Amino acid sequence: MRRRPDLGGLEAVLLDMDGTLVDSDASVERAWSTWAGEYGVPVDTVLAVAHGSPAGRTVAHLLPRLGPEEVAIAARRQLALQYDDLSDVAAAPGAHELLATLDRCGLPWAVVTSADGRLAKARLAAAGIDPPLLLTIDDVRHGKPDPEGYLRAAGLLRADPAACLVVEDSEPGLAAGTAAGMPTAALRGLDGDLRLFDLGHLAHLLRRARTSPWWRDAVGYQVYLPSFGDSTGDGWGDLAGAGEHLDHLARLGVDVVWLTPFFRSPMRDHGYDIADHRVVDPSFGGDAALDELLARAHRRGMRVIGDLVVNHTSDAHPWFTAASSSRADPYRDYYIWRDPAPDGGPPNNWLSHFGGPAWTFSEATGQYYLHLFSPEQPDLNWRNPALAAQVDKVIEHWLARGLDGFRIDTAAYLVKDADLRDNPLLPADLLVPVGGVTMEWRRQDHRHDIHQPDVHAVHERWRRVADRHDAFLVGEVYELDPGTLARFVDGERLHSSFWFGLVESGWDPERIDTMLAAAAAASPRLSWVQGNHDRPRAATRYGGGQVGRRRSLALHVLMASLPGTMWIYQGEELGLGDGHVPRGHGADPLATAEPGQSRDAARTPMPWRPGPGLGFTTGRPWLPEGGRTDADTVAAQEADPASHLTTLRRLLTTRRRLAGPAAATDEIARADLGAGVTAYRRGGLWAVANLRDATSAEVELPAPAVFDSDDPAVTPERPRTGRVRLAPQQALLLAGPWPAS
Ligand code: GLC
Repeated sequence: MRRRPDLGGLEAVLLDMDGTLVDSDASVERAWSTWAGEYGVPVDTVLAVAHGSPAGRTVAHLLPRLGPEEVAIAARRQLALQYDDLSDVAAAPGAHELLATLDRCGLPWAVVTSADGRLAKARLAAAGIDPPLLLTIDDVRHGKPDPEGYLRAAGLLRADPAACLVVEDSEPGLAAGTAAGMPTAALRGLDGDLRLFDLGHLAHLLRRARTSPWWRDAVGYQVYLPSFGDSTGDGWGDLAGAGEHLDHLARLGVDVVWLTPFFRSPMRDHGYDIADHRVVDPSFGGDAALDELLARAHRRGMRVIGDLVVNHTSDAHPWFTAASSSRADPYRDYYIWRDPAPDGGPPNNWLSHFGGPAWTFSEATGQYYLHLFSPEQPDLNWRNPALAAQVDKVIEHWLARGLDGFRIDTAAYLVKDADLRDNPLLPADLLVPVGGVTMEWRRQDHRHDIHQPDVHAVHERWRRVADRHDAFLVGEVYELDPGTLARFVDGERLHSSFWFGLVESGWDPERIDTMLAAAAAASPRLSWVQGNHDRPRAATRYGGGQVGRRRSLALHVLMASLPGTMWIYQGEELGLGDGHVPRGHGADPLATAEPGQSRDAARTPMPWRPGPGLGFTTGRPWLPEGGRTDADTVAAQEADPASHLTTLRRLLTTRRRLAGPAAATDEIARADLGAGVTAYRRGGLWAVANLRDATSAEVELPAPAVFDSDDPAVTPERPRTGRVRLAPQQALLLAGPWPAS
């Protein structure tokens, strides 16, 4: 398997020119076409071999009958044609951003090209690039794929070749880098040790490699595996299918992908019922598919975290099979067993999230076992040290295999009250303020079944394991009070935890404003989310349609300024509302108890392109397609500069360029700009949003706007200053002045 290049330890970056640093495609093609006409060679044949190879070598290859002198003449003619035509030569996308980043990181760089020296200088000048070191075909005996040029450049820069990154857009160039023993980064859909979609991508990866820890201010993306991409046509998403869509995530600006559970499972809760924590379920493609996905993600500079589900297992787990066979079985104490109450009923009043009591009677041994979810999901006993030791090994296993951390399922549920006391009932007019559970469950005060303080010790234990692997742990903690939630990420506990305030809320701008401010002040380590596979989609909760989408985007702009990590649930980048699942076509176990709480609508397939199967599957999807329109699809939104996808991508691209100045501090302050707008300031970065449904009064911008949700023309290069009125849900990022530090 390729190793992830150590971008933090680089000593130099060596860049190819044509197609890499300089966009000269059109002029190169024109010159070769003219030349092909003059020499009677079919244009297509010429264009197929010309790229990335010195002109002389291409000529000799195309016209094998010519002698060396005639080859030289023909090559000179070709060069003259190229030299004469620099009209549309320009810097490649992201080139200037990359060079500025190299400068800021103090990383030496050079251009190594198989082009003629004079031509190279002219092209670089036309693109506004002045390299500190330029090696051309005039400086080496052979061009690429010979490694000579790259090795010479490393020598001149006094850099260890193994610590020089070669950036290339052609196979011969990549071969030269690899032959020189250098890690490679490839453009044009080629695979090097890294695979880049443009040079801005590399700039971002270099900045992130210098950010410590790596998840600080990262952008995360939740892949709900069953519904993301299906490579086999069986209608069920899998790892290879997910792997096919990683470029979409890299382009969006995603740093870390969370994969929902891929372990062996009977799928009663679609993977959240694990029968073997160390094996990838065959329906997701098995272990080899995971290795391949990790390699592909790492090649794009993205990390991947798994989903650690250890509050419970499947009842098909061998531990449970053993435990339920006899009271004396060594695994008995891995689960929670109790005698029936005196009336023969369940031992206490705890309830399952999916309806009915949290206890099921096991005839074989005459006791009840506990399950906070379905009877097929028996709860593990976290007061048993043997279990804790087993789970440590599971975590070690996957981190050693290449996972970069875990989202911790039901992280606050693991430990239960030692005496299993009854939960008190809430006063009649009060309900637990979360969805995804039955009404009956919401009427109890869950003082004893969940959120016990002893759970922090389990997290601290995992943290020690994770830190040995530089891995990230983010908890699913349904604790809406930010102050209480912050305790889960205090000290050496979880690295981060989702704050679900924006997931549990409908649209109430005042309330959102107050809640968000409290969460932002509570801890710089929280993970910001608007949705997940357990709740209605954000755009639907926020009002639906265009307004719901705009509200979601305005919140994304605010989230972009907050310290911590910001997460996108698959499809949120498209502004998707809930999918339509006709009665009788759902699959969620919760819907059996309470159809109104069904989670299916948030889980319908990802719409990649118009047409049957939505590009998700060639078969019949396991959940209905959801009634998506063509405009909902990635393909349609890619092509529309004003689409939700394009706008969110623009937001994240701008955010990552500003991350440096912002990340200088974790201090976040609400700023009072008046006019009823919501604003935050973090270092040199501001986020301003109009969460109301009316245009705001005029606001004096305290710094230049570099992103405007409603105007793609506003960029860091073309900022807007002065006074503005914000349309409903319009949101801006402002930057500067940078803090002195
Ligand atoms: C988490 C998951 C949910 C699952 C439950 C039980 O809340 O997000 O989908 O049903 O845990 O594992």
